[in-house]
This record gives sequence, C-alpha cells and structure tokens, in this order.
Amino acid sequence: MYTVRNVTEDLYWVGVNDHKTTLFENIFPIPEGVSYNSYLLLDEKTALFDTVDWQFAREFVRNVEATLDGRDLDYLVIHHMEPDHAGTIEEICLRYPNVKVASSEQAFEMMNQFGFKRIEGHEQIILKEGDTLSFGKHTNAFVEAPMVHWPEVLVSLDVTDGVLFAADAFGTFGALDGKLFNDELNFEGDFLAPMRKYYTNIVGKYGPFVQDVLKKAAGLPIKMICSLHGPVWRTNLDYIIGKYDTWSKYEPEEEGVMIAYASMYGNTEYAAQALASELCRKGMTKVVLHDVSTTDVADLIADTFRFSHLVLASVTYNLGIYPKMKDFINDLEALNVQNRTVGIIENGTWACTVGDKMEDYVDENLKLVDVLGDRVTVNSSLNVANRNDMESLADAIIESMAKNRELKEKLTH
Ligand code: FEO
Repeated sequence: MYTVRNVTEDLYWVGVNDHKTTLFENIFPIPEGVSYNSYLLLDEKTALFDTVDWQFAREFVRNVEATLDGRDLDYLVIHHMEPDHAGTIEEICLRYPNVKVASSEQAFEMMNQFGFKRIEGHEQIILKEGDTLSFGKHTNAFVEAPMVHWPEVLVSLDVTDGVLFAADAFGTFGALDGKLFNDELNFEGDFLAPMRKYYTNIVGKYGPFVQDVLKKAAGLPIKMICSLHGPVWRTNLDYIIGKYDTWSKYEPEEEGVMIAYASMYGNTEYAAQALASELCRKGMTKVVLHDVSTTDVADLIADTFRFSHLVLASVTYNLGIYPKMKDFINDLEALNVQNRTVGIIENGTWACTVGDKMEDYVDENLKLVDVLGDRVTVNSSLNVANRNDMESLADAIIESMAKNRELKEKLTH
C-alpha cells in the first residue's frame, strides 16, 4: 500500500504529510500539519517534479519507486530549492544514477552552497524563462518567479494538460491526509485560515513579485494548479487566484476590526473589550480580539491581512511599547503590511507614552496606513471619563469604513 494519488492520467502525487513538525521553519506553529508535494510524470520519459523534506525520505522514496514500477527516473525537475522540498535531491540522485537534474542557474548554485555533492556526475540542465522540456506527450514551459518567495524559483506549465507547477505559490499549511484535490476538502472551513497564515507570513513581504507572476499566469491556459504544499486546485481557480491577488496587493479581504491588546493586569484588555462592545452596539460586529502575549505573531499577521482596521491597545512598559506589542508591529513592518486604518488605545499609570510611540512607529515605517486621531488614553483602568473617547474611536472606525467604501465605489465606476 502506498499514499500515491493520480493527479491526471499520467501524473501522480508522490508527496508526504507531516504531522511531526511543530514549528514550520522553526518559527510558525502548525497544529494542522503540512504536506510536501512532489509529482511524478510517467510519459515516454519519466520526470519527478521536486522532492520533500529529508525527514520523510523513506516514505517519499517508497512512493516514487512504487509509481515508477521498475522504470528508471529520467528527469528530476527542481522548481524551488528550499530544504522542505529540496532535502531529498541527493537521495534521488543516489538511487537513480542516470537521472538528469533540471533547474535554474541560481538553484544549482544553492545546491552547491548546501553541499549537495551527489548531483555531481549527473547531467545538469539549466532552465530559464521561456525554456521548455519535453518528456514525450507532455512538454513543460518554464517561467521565472523570483522572490516568490526565494530568488531561484521557477514555475512551469505542462502545456499538454494545462497543469501549473506553482512551487510554493498557492501553497498552504494543513496536511492532506489522503485528500488531494481542493474539491475533496472543506477549504473555507479547514484550509483558508492556514493558507492565509502561510501566505502572509512566508510570502507576504513580496507582494509586488507575486503580482508579477499573477500577470504572467493570466496569459497561460491553466486548468490545474499543483503547489508544493496543500491541495491540487482543479476547480474554482478564480477563487484562489483572487485571494492571492488581494493579499499581494495588501488589500483587506473584508471590512472588520482586529483589536490586538497588550495587557499586564487585565485593564488594557478590559478597554479592548469595551471598544469591541461599543463597535458591536453600533452594528460593526466583525470584530476579533487577540492578546499579543498569548497569540502567536503569525496569527496576528494573518488576521491583519484579513481585516480593514487594526486597533493597537497597549500598556506602557519601560516608558515605551510593551515588548510583545513591539514584536507584532515590527513584524507588520517586516511583512510590508499597508493599506490599513489603525486606531490606538494606550494605558499607563504614570508617563503614558505608548500611544505616541506606536503612532510614530506606524507613521514612520508602514506605508499607506492612516492612524485615526481619536485615541483613547486610559489612566491605569477604564473609567467613566473614557466613555466619550471610546465612543469617538468606535465612531471614527465606522466612519472610516464608510469613507473607504465610497472611495472604492468611485474607483470602480
Ligand atoms: Fe515550501 Fe519555500 O518552501
């Protein structure tokens, strides 16, 4: 028994599912697991598209051998050199001494940097934009996709079947566990949040490069998308391409408010809750609260990409920004977050400086982000004197949503 699945008549998924890794890239929690996808084409020639993480070499080799069923492997095509996909290149080279290795020039340089000695002695085919490789009935045309999200990345289109080998693009966290196609799983329920977390944290910084690839892809007759993580897309391609378009333009997916709070003794948290209540009383019920001390920053980033409005509610700490809040807003800058409206709640028992510091940081480091003037200042704990300011902040958020809608309407007509 093997875990192999047919993608098309002669293309097979031979990848693996990972439920062992707790931190992807040793930083992102993945309780939902992840898949490392590899695809094997059985044509007049045989071709393996990408490999998997080294720790799953045994299962992977088993799938490849079983699918080849005694045939030799003719080509190993590497679209992306990051070790979660490239970790098993040497193992494949050792087992298939005749295999030709095809990839971009920069990927070969990286193989050298990673010390992949076993590719020596194998024919090396350097691929660049516009090159093709023919395997018999199937021919793949290659397109360079630099910085999505590494510089050496290639994507390729099987021009016979319209299958796009997309490298990490359109990838997601979440193990497949037997399912393969997007229509075999509950994507919105089980995969949209992990996919948003994957895109925003791993590819999010490189939005303009993603836009370049989407423009190239728009001219291609794509019928199926095979990413290196997550399901194969064979229906609803416009949906997933639309999500990528929105994220890579740094446009919010939906109107709503994410309130991120940093609270030491519960008083700033209570102020954040009071704003949420005020917003909901006024009819804006798409409100999500996150405690920056207990929510992983990757989840904070994902919800920031999701919603149009962000409220930073922080206690003053060491005369500045609470460290966990500082981590979050540093990450906003690192991931190039833009096109958002920000509200501020500050708290301090003496020398309440955090509001100014957060506003200055946002103004100086984030592009196209408006900070609302209606700040709420809490002196130790929320009291009746804060009522008007809290109401003003809620009103300002709702009014700015209306203005954004009007502007969007004008731009689309
Ligand atoms: Fe899934 Fe960039 O590696």
